[in-house]
Amino acid sequence: MALRSVILGTGSALPPTVVTNAELEQRLDTSSTWIVERTGIRERRIAGPGVKTSDLAVEAAMGALSAAGLTGADIDLVIVATATPDETFPATATRVQAQLGITRGAAFDLAAVCSGFIYALTVADSLLKAGQFQRALVIGAELFSHLVDWEDRTTAVLFGDGAGAVVIEGREGDRGLLSARLHADGRHGDLLFVDGGPGSTGTVGKLRMKGREVFRHAVQNLASVTEEVLDDAGYSAADLDWVIPHQANARILEATAKKLGLPMDRVVVTVDSQANTSAASVPLALDTAVRDGRVKPGDLCLLEAMGGGFTWGAVLLRF
Ligand code: UT7
Repeated sequence: MALRSVILGTGSALPPTVVTNAELEQRLDTSSTWIVERTGIRERRIAGPGVKTSDLAVEAAMGALSAAGLTGADIDLVIVATATPDETFPATATRVQAQLGITRGAAFDLAAVCSGFIYALTVADSLLKAGQFQRALVIGAELFSHLVDWEDRTTAVLFGDGAGAVVIEGREGDRGLLSARLHADGRHGDLLFVDGGPGSTGTVGKLRMKGREVFRHAVQNLASVTEEVLDDAGYSAADLDWVIPHQANARILEATAKKLGLPMDRVVVTVDSQANTSAASVPLALDTAVRDGRVKPGDLCLLEAMGGGFTWGAVLLRF
C-alpha cells in the first residue's frame, strides 16, 4: 500500500504583544471600523526587538514535537517556509535544526510567501513518499512586522507575526495527505512584492501591494485550486469537515466558503485576532482548531493559500 504523510502533531507560536486597531488609529490615518469592515481584523501580534523568525519557528516546532510525543532526534527533514529568514544565509531551517539538536537529514527554507506552508507541506510529502526521509518538521514562520511600511495605511493594518508547525510521517492507511496542487504565475509579481533586499539588490525593502487586484485574483485562484484537489481525490466540497485557509481577509474567507457552498462554521478563522501572518497563517489556524477540539483524527480538511508571486496551492488531507 502507498505511503501517505500523516500529521502526528501541530504547534504554534505567537509573540505576547497584542496591537489593537485602536492603537493603529493613533499612528495612522485609519479607523478600527474601516479595518474590521474591510478585513475582519481586530488585533495582531507583533514581536519585540531582538526576536528572530527562528525563535518563533523553534517554539512552534517544539509544540508540534511534544504533541506528537517525539523529540528532535526523531526528525530527519526540516523545512521552514518564510519570507523573513533570520539571515540571507544560512537557511533559517538550519538554525532551527541546530536549536532542536537535530544533526542528521536535510534542512532548507522555502520561499513562496503566503503560500509557503502549502508549498512546504507538498514538497515534504513528496520526499517522504519517495522514501528519502522518515519524519519531517514543516514550519511556517514569519516576522512581517519587519517588512511592513508602518507609514502606509493600506498595508500596515493587515499583517502580524507568528509561526506554526506540523510533524508528518509517511504511513500506510486512510489518513494523511490525499491530494495537493501548487501553482505560480510570475506575471503578477508586481502586485505584491518587497521593493528591496536582502539579496542581489543590496537595498532594504518594504512590502508593497495593490490590494484590490490581489483580492480579485485570490478569490478566483483559491476557488479553482480547491476544485482541483477535491477532484483529484474524488471528493466534493460537501464532504469537507474543515476548510483551513490562509488568513488574509475575512471577506476572502467568506467568498471562498460561498463558492464551495459551505457555511462559515466549517471554516477556521483566526484573521480577527492574528491578522495575516503569511506562511504561518495556515499552520497557526490548524493548530488552533486541533487544540480547541474542532479538528479531530479522521476529519477531511482542505488547506489553501495564495500569495505574492503569485503563488497559490491547496492540500486535501484526512487528519
Ligand atoms: O496574503 C496574500 C494575499 N493578500 C491578500 O489576499 C490581500 C487582498 N486584498 C485585500 O484584502 C483588500 O484589497 C484590502 C484589505 C487590502 C483593501 O480593501 P479594499 O476593500 O480592496 O480597499 P481598497 O484598496 O479598494 O481601498 C478603498 C479605500 C481607498 O480610498 P479611496 O481611494 O476610495 O478614497 C483607500 O485609500 O479605502 C482606503 N483605505 C483605507 N482607509 C482607512 C485603504 N487602507 C485604509 C485604511 N484605513 N487602513
